[in-house]
Amino acid sequence: MPKLIVVNRAGEESTIEVGDGLTVMEAIRDNGFDELLALCGGCCSCATCHVHVDPAFADKLPAISEDEDDLLESSDYRNETSRLSCQVPFTSDLDGLKVTIAPED
Ligand code: FES
Repeated sequence: MPKLIVVNRAGEESTIEVGDGLTVMEAIRDNGFDELLALCGGCCSCATCHVHVDPAFADKLPAISEDEDDLLESSDYRNETSRLSCQVPFTSDLDGLKVTIAPED
């Protein structure tokens, strides 16, 4: 199974294996990272699934929608690598992707 590397807010890195059909948010949440709140359950309306994504994978990610862009604007921790992890389906193309859970707003 493709692997996703998750860095938590303490800076600890873990590698998890991700099954088909999950978003990056679901993969992180289902593996017990409770600091990723994902309060809206993936509806792109809360921004509590904010992560910073390894720039090496930038061209493999789906484009940011207007809604995602607006929500990210509400975060003090937005940078050029920011994404809402519920808006990124994890495909085998993303094997080895590293994401860092953004600080809490
Ligand atoms: S889980 Fe709410 S925006 Fe991603």
